[in-house]
Amino acid sequence: MTRQEEIRELAAERKAVILAHNYTRGEVQDVADYTGDSLELARKAATVEAEVIVFCGVYFMAETAAILNPGKTVLIPEPSAGCPMADMITGEQVRALKARHPGAKAVCYVNSTAEVKAECDMCVTSGNAERVMRTFGPDEQILFVPDQHLGGHIAGLLRRTYTLWPGYCPTHQMITVKGIEAARALHPGAPVLVHPECPKDVRAAADHALSTGGMCAFARENAAREIIVGTETGILHRLRKENPGKAFYPVSERMVCPNMKKTTLDNLAEYCMPIV
Ligand code: 13P
Ligand code: SF4
Repeated sequence: MTRQEEIRELAAERKAVILAHNYTRGEVQDVADYTGDSLELARKAATVEAEVIVFCGVYFMAETAAILNPGKTVLIPEPSAGCPMADMITGEQVRALKARHPGAKAVCYVNSTAEVKAECDMCVTSGNAERVMRTFGPDEQILFVPDQHLGGHIAGLLRRTYTLWPGYCPTHQMITVKGIEAARALHPGAPVLVHPECPKDVRAAADHALSTGGMCAFARENAAREIIVGTETGILHRLRKENPGKAFYPVSERMVCPNMKKTTLDNLAEYCMPIV
C-alpha cells in the first residue's frame, strides 16, 4: 500500500476530512479532500459533516478551525508549523495598543494567535478583508494587526488611514520589484499576481494583489495562457494541476514558507496532534 492509500484508509476509518492549504507540499494537497486559502478552509471546516478535521497548514489555521467548531476534533500533523507573522504581536501588545487609542476598533488578520483574536473586534482573511473592512464607517479609527502590508493594501483600496502594526511575512518580504520586472521581461504580456502580504512597491508593480484562492479563481477565469505568480511556490502545484493548458511562472523560486512544508505524508500518516 502506498503512503497515500494508507492515509486515505486511515481517514475513512476515523471518518476524518483532510484539509490542506494551497502552500502545502504537492503530495499533501493531492491526498487531501479539499485545498484552499485560509477563508475557504475555515468555511469548509465549518460546513463538513465529519467529526474529525485534519488540518495541513500552519498552527493558526488549525486553531481557527477549532475555535469555529467547538464540537469537532481538529488535528494537526505537525504542531510546530507556526507562522512567524502571527508571532509578531501578543495579546498584551494588542491591549496596550487599544489603551493608547481609546475608541478605536482593533482588527486582526487571521494570521494571528487565538490570544490576539480574543482582543480584537473583527478578524479578516486576505480573501474577505476588503469586503469586511468596508463595513466600518469612514470616520472609524482602525488598528490593524499584525500585517502592515495587508492592512496598508486595504487602507489604500478604501482610501482610509489605519494604524498599522509593523508585522510582516518573511516569505513575502523576499519578493522585489526587480524580480517582477525580470519575470515580465522573460514572459511579456503575462499578468502578474501577488499576495497582499507583499510590500507596497511590489503590489504597485504587479497587476493584481489576491488571496491564494483569488489567484486560483483568476487562473480559471482569465483568458491569459501565461501567468506570473508572486507568492509561496506551493500554489504552483494546484495552479498547474487545475489549468493544464496554461503556464505559471514564479517570480522567485526562493519564496518558500518553511513552516508550510513541515507537513509531510509521513507525519500525516503517523502523527496527528489535537488542537486544544
Ligand atoms: P491565503 O488566505 O491567501 O491563502 O493566505 C494565507 C497565508 O498565510 C499567506 O501567507
Ligand atoms: Fe505565515 Fe508567511 Fe508562511 Fe503565510 S507564508 S504562513 S504569512 S510565514
